[in-house]
Amino acid sequence: MNNPNDRHGETIAAKASHYLDVHSGAIVPEIQLSTTFARDDRYAPINPANLYARDDCPTYVHAERTLADLENGEECRLFPSGMAAIASVFYSLSPGSHVVLPDAMYWGARLWINDHCKRQDIFVSEYDPADAATIQAAVEDKNKTDLVWVETPSNPMMHVTDIALAAEIAHEYGALVCVDSTAATPVFTTPLDHGADLVMHSATKYLNGHSDVLAGALVTRDEHPLWEAICSERKMAGSVIGAFESWLLLRGMRTLYVRVQRAADNAMQIAQFLEQHPAIESVSYPGLKNHPGHAIACRQMQGGFGGLLSFTVHGDASAALKVAGGLQIITSATSLGGVESLIEHRYTLEPAENQIPENQLRLSVGIESAEDLISDLSEALKA
Ligand SMILES: Cc1ncc(COP(=O)(O)O)c(C=O)c1O
Repeated sequence: MNNPNDRHGETIAAKASHYLDVHSGAIVPEIQLSTTFARDDRYAPINPANLYARDDCPTYVHAERTLADLENGEECRLFPSGMAAIASVFYSLSPGSHVVLPDAMYWGARLWINDHCKRQDIFVSEYDPADAATIQAAVEDKNKTDLVWVETPSNPMMHVTDIALAAEIAHEYGALVCVDSTAATPVFTTPLDHGADLVMHSATKYLNGHSDVLAGALVTRDEHPLWEAICSERKMAGSVIGAFESWLLLRGMRTLYVRVQRAADNAMQIAQFLEQHPAIESVSYPGLKNHPGHAIACRQMQGGFGGLLSFTVHGDASAALKVAGGLQIITSATSLGGVESLIEHRYTLEPAENQIPENQLRLSVGIESAEDLISDLSEALKA
């Protein structure tokens, strides 16, 4: 596809899309802060690619090209947050459209999408993300379906959705498939290769990887009317990322493969440790053989299963909070995908109807020593 010379993702990320400034010889792009770009004496733009920074910023095209190449996509657009990327997809659908969502997904997105769709007369049906075959009944619900949303592995329940099956069913009904691949990252899954039409990332998470940039991204397999509407929406409604943030994101992506592989190796060791611990009720990690989506994960995740896992402790919410509170290395905080391990009690944050188990903790495993992380968990679980 678009991947230059079929190079490996490690090479594309480390070289940041083969950047080289032919004028200065710099191997790192400069941060272009100018919001506008000059024209010549005939009023022609000096560089036709750069007119005004509400869409044409020479800094963020480097991060966009790198991510498009990593996802084997045609084009990428960055946004000021993952939610802004999601919003641009749904703003681009017309009233009367029909969308199909998983009945368990990142709560913030589900909340906003449902609210937006209600206001815009967009019909929403739901399916079980652990069983992509249930998309069939959801698309048959309406005469025509426009979009099927997939989030795999899902946050925080760790459901694994079969992207190829989702795409097969969606395409039969003329619908596009967008995959929120935040937790998988292009290191482990390239959804476009499994039939998806769009990939979405909260780049705030693994892509940047240092918990210091809020960013979102969409990558398309090819040009289609929804993609044109998304690009126009970003430009005209001004949902653009800042030059410095996109530069930091590019810098973060250069080490994506080593960070994410290390986090996944740590997560596997921690999942295996927790699985046999007497204080633990259950562990949800796609890399474990007893995970209901393990076989699908083995098919669509190459080289690892990511750095995110959830587990339940024996007892109630206070037992879970006691474990989180007893940790010395792992920090209690929301978000995921940074180099530092974070633990979160989603039950405290989400409403009861989301049915998050009160004794569940979500762990975003970082790149610290696995031995230290396991001993931290071991001490906290003793309590
Ligand atoms: C899976 C997933 N998608 C989307 C988002 C939203 O991204 P952001 O916080 O960058 O707006 C999040 C945030 O936690 C997430 O976990």
